[in-house]
Amino acid sequence: MQLVQKNILLAITGGIAAYKTPDLVRKLKAEGANVRVILTQSAMHFVSSLSLQAVSGEKVSTDLLNEEAELGMGHIELARWADIMLVAPATANTIAKLSSGFADDLLGTVVLATKAPILVAPAMNQQMWAAKVTHQNCLKLADLGMKLIGPASGEQACGDVGYGRMLEPEELVLEVIKHSSMKDTPKLLKGKRITITAGPTREAIDPVRYISNHSSGKMGYALAETAVKMGAYVTLVSGPVTLKAPKQCNLIKVESAEEMLEAVLNDIDRADFFIACAAVADYRVDNIATQKMKKNKDDALQLKLVQNPDILKTVASLPRPPFTLGFAAETENVVNYARKKLTTKKLNMIAANDVSNPELGFNSEQNALIVLTRENERKLGQASKHSLSLELLKMMETEYRFQNKTNNLQDAVK
Ligand SMILES: Cc1cc2nc3c(=O)[nH]c(=O)nc-3n(C[C@H](O)[C@H](O)[C@H](O)COP(=O)(O)O)c2cc1C
Repeated sequence: MQLVQKNILLAITGGIAAYKTPDLVRKLKAEGANVRVILTQSAMHFVSSLSLQAVSGEKVSTDLLNEEAELGMGHIELARWADIMLVAPATANTIAKLSSGFADDLLGTVVLATKAPILVAPAMNQQMWAAKVTHQNCLKLADLGMKLIGPASGEQACGDVGYGRMLEPEELVLEVIKHSSMKDTPKLLKGKRITITAGPTREAIDPVRYISNHSSGKMGYALAETAVKMGAYVTLVSGPVTLKAPKQCNLIKVESAEEMLEAVLNDIDRADFFIACAAVADYRVDNIATQKMKKNKDDALQLKLVQNPDILKTVASLPRPPFTLGFAAETENVVNYARKKLTTKKLNMIAANDVSNPELGFNSEQNALIVLTRENERKLGQASKHSLSLELLKMMETEYRFQNKTNNLQDAVK
């Protein structure tokens, strides 16, 4: 339950995907949220207010000029009540209106009157989505501070295939969770410098082939985004991934483990924290072929691999190391291996995860961690990578202050 006591105002507009919204309301409520619903006049043709009232347990609002509701200034009350506003599905028409600040219906008026973050989930035919004016309107929305989530690509109700599908209810819920935790993010890392590695590395075999792993970079990017929100200056050293880095961080793109080490060492002098979240290849090919290798008559091909530098160990062994937080992705004996890594590499903290479970770890949206320090062990149960990153960074900051205090006391009694 990650939305306990959060007030989510769901505005539904007149798109075919509105039929998914009763399920969306149920899923938001299952996370503990209070949900109120606004329906545009068009939306009422696609989903009934009675269904939405039944699943939300709240009266559904449809009119701006409603004498009864406005006795208590209904539109302002709704605007103030919301912790997060979600417009889903958002039609091309509503996106156009919101981008120009129209207030000729309840939805437009509440959007202008609320201080809550506004998430907009576009849903429309792929040609409508591709229209230049829709694109311009979306840019305006983003410029006005609203957050676009989706659309996804796939088969559409009209039979077309392409971008324009609304994200599925479970994906929308994850986005709401992500933004609600961000909204309340404490600025515990204000002014601190953090270097984070993320993603896989690629170890070349020849100019067109490489060895790599399944890391998506999602955990490292979630940590970078959360650390920025917590006030830190973040350098994100990233292997090849398809994710967008937060605008405010210093992104350094690398391919191989050796390049990653070089980028980290160039930055580490100034860092207060080092978080090693990348899945760095342990080995690389000894002699990378300079030309594309040809298939030969033999059934087998032997590649000689040599060990890559251990980036985490190198940083933790520096004369004045930053606070180091490592990750241990394991498929068995998770805690034992992680504790061994914590001790032998002299880390301050380690976050272990079991990547044998396909629902968690590599490439999934969710994760679960066991966080170890020399004295403590704490489980962070299954949650979105964004929620986990907030918990983990809070723990890291507490541990940093605790270990600094202990070191200062030890220096004082020497
Ligand atoms: C069957 C049908 C399906 C529609 N689906 C969509 C849709 O998925 N996305 C969209 O942008 N417009 C869609 N429209 C057009 C909108 O309903 C129309 O632009 C309406 O004015 C939107 O009003 P609203 O934005 O105030 O809810 C659809 C229209 C019909 C008749």
